[in-house]
Amino acid sequence: MNDAEKLGIIILAAGLGKRMKSDLPKVLQKLCGRPLINYVLDTALALNPEICAVVLGFKNELVRPFISENVKIAIQEPQLGTGHAVMQTAEIFEKFSGKILVLCGDVPLLKLLTLKKLINQYDKQESDAAILSAELDDPSGYGRIVRNEHNEVSAIVEDKDADKNIKAIKEINSGIYCFNSKYLFKYLPNIKNTNAQSEYYLTDIIDIMVKNKHKVIAVKSANKIEIEGINNRLQLARLEKELYADTAKSHLENGVVINDIENVYIDTLSKIGAETVIMAGSVIMNSILGKNCVIDGGAISDSEIKENCNIGKSTISKTKIFANVSINDYNVIGDCEIKNNCAIGNNNTIKNSCIDVNTKIQNNCNIEDMEIGKNCYISNGFSVCNFDGFNNHTSKISDFVFVGAGCQIVSPVNINSNSYITSGSTIIKDVEEDSLIMARFDVVAKRGYMDKIKKKINGGE
Ligand code: UD1
Ligand code: MG
Repeated sequence: MNDAEKLGIIILAAGLGKRMKSDLPKVLQKLCGRPLINYVLDTALALNPEICAVVLGFKNELVRPFISENVKIAIQEPQLGTGHAVMQTAEIFEKFSGKILVLCGDVPLLKLLTLKKLINQYDKQESDAAILSAELDDPSGYGRIVRNEHNEVSAIVEDKDADKNIKAIKEINSGIYCFNSKYLFKYLPNIKNTNAQSEYYLTDIIDIMVKNKHKVIAVKSANKIEIEGINNRLQLARLEKELYADTAKSHLENGVVINDIENVYIDTLSKIGAETVIMAGSVIMNSILGKNCVIDGGAISDSEIKENCNIGKSTISKTKIFANVSINDYNVIGDCEIKNNCAIGNNNTIKNSCIDVNTKIQNNCNIEDMEIGKNCYISNGFSVCNFDGFNNHTSKISDFVFVGAGCQIVSPVNINSNSYITSGSTIIKDVEEDSLIMARFDVVAKRGYMDKIKKKINGGE
């Protein structure tokens, strides 16, 4: 590969994001369930760069865990502007020669294809810098692309430094560029901070390069959403709505049934099988759903659900659900495995448990750290006492066990197969197989006692 073909990428992500009014660094704000930086990193790494570097600053220790090992980190402290941020990568790119893409950590929806087009034009037009620009009806807030009488790019002027004439320009700078690495690092030190924000603007390098007779081009992006930078919560909310709608539409194209696309929330990582119905209010994050399911308002995250499942308004996380399972409303299920043909009623909490095939769990149960076998029936109000105040304990119910309503077990216990636990039992030790268990107090009946009580209450009448 010759130098001209080599690609480096710099992602600017050191900013505090003042306009967000948040304690979090801006690039950790979530868009459709994922931090902004993740979107940009995914796109950057898909281009297979020789070197990918990210510039971190404000609370960088919080951002570091989101940066994969093949990405280099430069620290910018304090944050003196986008030009100053790029300067901090000089050492990382010391031996590099080729083109460098500069991306913004706060422009999450930029498409791979758009970047490829930018690089392509940079190469084709033999330029030393290419700016990704766009024509916006409302360009306020963005830097403007200034062109000379030959319609060639001559500078970028920031909104805060712009006069009336510049403000009227509709072509904006997306903050995404492709530079010849040699000239990028040659001219960066020439940037001054004599501007409205006293910052070292990367955008000033355009004017410097043009004055030094380098060819600078602007490549217009047709898609305005993808170049949108997120600076405040209103922009974040708007983009989130756009992205959810776009994602829902792409699922429709794949045969998923969504009646109300404005009211489903599916992130960009999730996959959904054809003819699965996603009803209004459903939230699906980082999950894989099979075919022919119905999700009626559930919130599903980090989970896998196989085909023909019915899920109501329940919260399901980090759980694998096999085929033909039904789960009704108001259940909270986390870190579980639920095998084929199980049925779960309403209002159950099920955590860190495995439930084998054909088992039914009625309503209002609390099941934690459990293994429940095949063909069991767990009636209303079953409760597992798994925590002794210091440690969690696990219990197991084997196959073909019936547990009557209102039972509780004090973990750790094993209930062996083919057993029948009568309603209201409290199980504190192992149950052998084929057993009928009645672990409850007998009924004590004292006839005629009601009169005594009434007299007591009415003051000895
Ligand atoms: C920048 C551009 C503007 C463009 C807009 C597009 C400059 C001077 N302006 O403005 O022309 O229209 O993006 O969205 O470049 N950052 C750092 N260190 C810093 C400052 C910023 O790493 O010291 C990072 C931020 O984290 C962010 C990116 O650079 O990811 C852009 O910074 P931001 O403050 O949002 O610049 P804008 O005002 O949006
Ligand atoms: Mg910005």
